[in-house]
Formats: sequence, C-alpha cells, structure tokens
Amino acid sequence: MFKQLFIWTIGAFILLQAIQIDIPKPPKTIDPSLALHAPKEIDSMLKTSCYDCHSYKTKMPWYGYISPMSLEVKSHIKEGRQALNFQEWGHYDESKKQKVYKGIVKTINFSMPMPMYLTIHEKAKLTQKQRNQIKAWAKSHIKEEEY
Ligand code: HEC
Repeated sequence: MFKQLFIWTIGAFILLQAIQIDIPKPPKTIDPSLALHAPKEIDSMLKTSCYDCHSYKTKMPWYGYISPMSLEVKSHIKEGRQALNFQEWGHYDESKKQKVYKGIVKTINFSMPMPMYLTIHEKAKLTQKQRNQIKAWAKSHIKEEEY
C-alpha cells in the first residue's frame, strides 16, 4: 500500500517536471555602460538584494529548476525584469526612470525585496538604515511635478 503510494507520488513529481516556464534568454552581449551606476554603497545593496530579479545576473537556486517551485521563481524573475532591469537602465527614457525612482520609494519599506524571497535569502536582507539610504537616494532623483 505504502509502496504504491510512494511510486505514484514519485511518478506525479516526475510528470510535474514537464511543466516548466522559460525566462527569455538574456542578450548575448550586455553593454556594461547601460547599467545603472548608483553611488558605490547603494550600488552594492542593489546588487545584493535586487539583482536576482531585476537584472540578468540572476543567481538561480537549485529549486529554481524543479517544478513546481521553479514556476514561482521563474515568474518572479520574468516579471521582475520586465518591471525593472538595472542592466537596461540606459535604454529607459526619463519618464520610465522617474517611475522607477518613485516605485523604489514606494516599495522599499515593505514589498521589495519580496518578503517571501527574504525568508530564504538571508544575505539579501536590508536593515532599516539601509532601506532608508536607498529611499533617500531614490528620492533625490525624483523631479518635482511640473504644473
Ligand atoms: C524575488 C524577486 C525580487 C527581488 C529580490 C526584488 N524584486 Fe522588485 N519586483 C519583483 C517583481 C516580480 C516585480 C513586479 C511585480 C510587482 O510589482 O509586484 C517587482 C517590481 C518592482 C518595482 C516596480 C513596482 C512598482 O510598483 O512600481 C520596483 C521599483 C522594484 N521591484 C524594486 C526592487 C528593489 C529596489 C529591490 C531590491 C531592494 C527589489 N525590487 C527586489 C521581484 C523582485
């Protein structure tokens, strides 16, 4: 009885592996001058805490290849890059950049980096002080609304 259940479970797990989503392949050559160049301290925080989902430099964890976790992980990477890719910064026009700076101010205290992600990525955790630093940096780039 248990043996059968075990076999069925393994079988279902193997079948599940057929369900995969693809992240679009990064371009072959990535022009380093396109990347956002923030002050060193900010830059290193963004690289540690945001680049897994907001750049092409994703460090994929092992479970990122195993369905069903991979579906979750890959969709975060895909949507994260679409919303904001720090390595595509040079291609963004001013209004997109403004949107991102505002988005950072809005999200840095609660929703970014994604709380779920932080439970498994100890290193990406930001202290309140670091969050304040990132917020202040983003704020300093927001232009006054023109009326
Ligand atoms: C685990 C993946 C992940 C990490 C890590 C992550 N993000 Fe995101 N981010 C996303 C996803 C997915 C979206 C798009 C969907 C959404 O808005 O929730 C997003 C959207 C955003 C947006 C646009 C949101 C808006 O409302 O304008 C900003 C700005 C942002 N992230 C900033 C950051 C910053 C800054 C960091 C690092 C401190 C970070 N993110 C880390 C996954 C991530």
